Amino acid sequence: MTQDELKKAVGFAALKFVKPNTIVGVGTGSTAAHFIDALATIKNDIIGTVSSSEASTAKLKAYGIPVFDCNEVDSLDIYVDGADEINHQMHMIKGGGAALTREKIISAISKQFICIVDESKLVNTLGRFPLPIEVIPMARSYVARELFKLGGKPIYREGVVTDNGNVILDIHDFMIINPIEVENKINNIAGVVTVGLFANRSANIALVGTTNGVKEVR
Ligand code: A5P
Repeated sequence: MTQDELKKAVGFAALKFVKPNTIVGVGTGSTAAHFIDALATIKNDIIGTVSSSEASTAKLKAYGIPVFDCNEVDSLDIYVDGADEINHQMHMIKGGGAALTREKIISAISKQFICIVDESKLVNTLGRFPLPIEVIPMARSYVARELFKLGGKPIYREGVVTDNGNVILDIHDFMIINPIEVENKINNIAGVVTVGLFANRSANIALVGTTNGVKEVR
């Protein structure tokens, strides 16, 4: 199976967690895009969605699936999204697609985070994938200097502006032994909007696409 077929398998497998007459949190990226294709097959059974990016919103609307403003919703039953890496404690690196801030907000209002990944994303230690940080543009150099002190190599993602008008620094060569501590430290740097480490709010269930089928990890 190709990596995309594994992503499609988990995107469709996530449908079993969608309850009728609910509003569903929808993530961003190529795996989440398969979930949107799956959701379209049951679109008449749900009330609608809250979306984590302009890209996902456009795809949902193209299917005629209602998209609600996050401020209109108190809480969501589930949030379904991919990840760039996930470890066995269900901590994740997210933000490869630059949508990390909205992803973190929606995961914060969701009772369950269903993470959908192909098996290449499951790791023992987070950090081979560069850790994305969304930063207020005027703080870019200051935040980069502070991140450097933590032991990583921050690189400005040139040409990328987030849906919120900010920039992204990716920390390379930064193996993350204690994800909660690292998330808290980076959150404390002035000018950081969001760190793409989802450790304080980890996934509840991971659906991992393997050549032997979809495995459910809790
Ligand atoms: C988007 O900002 C990310 O958090 C995605 O969830 C992550 O990059 C996974 O993307 P793919 O599903 O495209 O691999």
